[in-house]
Amino acid sequence: MSDLEALVLQAETDFSAAADAVALEQVKARFLGKSGTLTELLKGLGKLDPDARKTIGAAINIAKQKVESALEARREALRYAALEARLAEESLDVTLPGRGHSKGGLHPVTRTLERIEALFRGIGFDVADGPEIETDFHNFTALNTPENHPARSMHDTFYLEGACDVMLRTHTSPIQVRYMQAHVARHAGAATMPEIRIIAPGRVYRVDSDATHSPMFHQVEGLWVGESVSFADLKGVVSDFLHRFFEADRLDVRFRPSFFPFTEPSAEIDVAFPSGPLAGRWLEIAGCGMVHPNVLRHCGIDAERHTGFAFGFGPDRLTMLRYGINDLRLFYDGDVRFLSQFR
Ligand code: DAH
Repeated sequence: MSDLEALVLQAETDFSAAADAVALEQVKARFLGKSGTLTELLKGLGKLDPDARKTIGAAINIAKQKVESALEARREALRYAALEARLAEESLDVTLPGRGHSKGGLHPVTRTLERIEALFRGIGFDVADGPEIETDFHNFTALNTPENHPARSMHDTFYLEGACDVMLRTHTSPIQVRYMQAHVARHAGAATMPEIRIIAPGRVYRVDSDATHSPMFHQVEGLWVGESVSFADLKGVVSDFLHRFFEADRLDVRFRPSFFPFTEPSAEIDVAFPSGPLAGRWLEIAGCGMVHPNVLRHCGIDAERHTGFAFGFGPDRLTMLRYGINDLRLFYDGDVRFLSQFR
């Protein structure tokens, strides 16, 4: 065997022995590097006479090609082995059972809001909304509660930092104001103003927190304004709604005189269930009354010609009564054990 054949054989053996790409490149340097065996042989050609240079040169080049292809073959083999190893490591067991999807559901208060909306839409009410950050004018002044009016202290208000006339709305009543103003603008110049019939559900905020109060809670405002809307209409609409909401043929509804600056007269609405765990107790669930003429005037409505009623329900309270929940905070803790009962 010639020296060159021995060299090629040696290179092949050493390449096969290299366990990874780094080791292989080191072995390669011994044969093909700057001072590798083959490189040195090629350098030595210069000292030979032209004839010998031609034949020996050709033989060295053939040997060099063999070494290079052995190197490439080993590189390929190592790449393949590395891929195989990774695939084995990352193997997936496609026969394992899946994790599945758990079923979501609507929050109980959302269910109540949707139920209220559906019941009122059914008797011709529209659903309106308004901003949660309100101006002093919409939240208080237009609702007949000017500055220094004692009724302002009925609400513990979250003011925005550095502003005394911008706040988180303390009730949904400012939506009445916004809706009436927009309604008047929409029908400016018409001989008669079409009736207003809306409910307005939304989040409201007060500085208050215990088992029956949360700093954020919900209200549903109601408003019906027209040329002959009476307290009798208010009683009819509200008690019909409550019977439907609680799916109760027998439900006692009571209108108890009260005070709100934006209604006159004003009343608190109480319900009593004839049977069940809450039987025999009057439970307060809403405020209501005939819209105060000052409120109509603030919104640009002719208070000589129009009357209206308004109400404000607490849907959190309605939800607690409907499902028998005793702690308001359960609604806002986000505990899946509680929420999953309403799927
Ligand atoms: N805005 C009142 C509150 O938050 C609730 C209320 C009472 C709304 C009477 C009304 C109403 O529309 O007529 O305490």
